[in-house]
Amino acid sequence: MIEVQHLTKRYGPVTAVDDVSFRVERGEILGFLGPNGAGKTTTMRILTGYMPATEGRAVVAGFDVFEQPIEAKRRTGYLPETPPLYPDMSVVEYLGFVARIKGVPSNERAARIETIMERTRIADMRHRLCSRLSKGYRQRVGLAQALLHNPDVLILDEPTAGLDPKQIIETRELVKELAGDHTIILSTHILPEVSQTCQRVVIIAKGRVVAVDTPENLTARLRGANSLYLQVDAGGADLAGVFSQLPGVRRVAESDRRDLIVGYEIETETGGDVRRELARVVVGSGWGLLELRPMRLSLEDIFLSLTTEEIESAAGEPADPEPAGPEPAAQEPAAQEAVNG
Ligand SMILES: Nc1ncnc2c1ncn2[C@@H]1O[C@H](COP(=O)(O)OP(=O)(O)OP(=O)(O)O)[C@@H](O)[C@H]1O
Ligand SMILES: [Mg+2]
Repeated sequence: MIEVQHLTKRYGPVTAVDDVSFRVERGEILGFLGPNGAGKTTTMRILTGYMPATEGRAVVAGFDVFEQPIEAKRRTGYLPETPPLYPDMSVVEYLGFVARIKGVPSNERAARIETIMERTRIADMRHRLCSRLSKGYRQRVGLAQALLHNPDVLILDEPTAGLDPKQIIETRELVKELAGDHTIILSTHILPEVSQTCQRVVIIAKGRVVAVDTPENLTARLRGANSLYLQVDAGGADLAGVFSQLPGVRRVAESDRRDLIVGYEIETETGGDVRRELARVVVGSGWGLLELRPMRLSLEDIFLSLTTEEIESAAGEPADPEPAGPEPAAQEPAAQEAVNG
């Protein structure tokens, strides 16, 4: 449904997006995860036809975004980083305006707006001026405008940014409901978001894709060596030497110590399971076995490891210069993104 091939975007000397390729299948939710400045917004702006790429190709719903931009845009709903609202319009006026420019037939507009307002839970704010909306409601109205023309593809740039915890859960639920009918790419910094909402994750750092996989596979892939946590009461003795003698154990490190109780992190060879042997040694020596469990890498660890590897491997190169010039894209009139979206 979405196909991105070798996309590159340069702003003068800054390469914001560097040879990015990925696919999103119909009905799938893809999470676009990366630290600040990774190139998420830039990629999304290219996909929505809001700005051209320097190199590469992107196909959305069967249409090349550069060669058939109108067809591609008709099938795309876009929630930009800053929702493109008109401050002087009320919510319902604004949605009416967007419905018109998006070509929703006039006899369907009113019903469509009602449905979308219900769905995004903004009906109670219908007569509020856009300039008077709270951040969370602005975000929801932004989502509503992206959905108005019932697009096949939704591109959501940090849809939960600035929302309170209840709204975050509601938005996640809404996004999940929308998948299936719609193909969705959403960007985020929030790790639980991708594991809870997305089937697949693209992790980008400094414009480059560092991983594309399911959240589960990412965890598994990075767990090259298994680690165990073992807590023992052996009268405060240091047992690291004892445990490192066991076959299958690679490395032992003391991780915490409280009075006579010591916790160890034990790294083992992949595939082997030394838990029984460890338990036997501890109990057989008359020590107290208080805890023994596998340590799993969290998505957070994986993210940090992937993105810092990338940054470390780029060390020595000068740091990404933050361009001082104006961001032309950010300064276009608000409606421009709505038209494009
Ligand atoms: N209009 C522009 N002119 C010059 N450089 C730009 C422009 N827009 C973005 N950049 C640079 O491109 C890089 C990628 O920016 P982008 O906004 O795509 O990152 P992001 O992943 O969306 O970050 P964030 O999480 O902070 O939103 C950054 O180094 C940024 O400074
Ligand atoms: Mg961004």
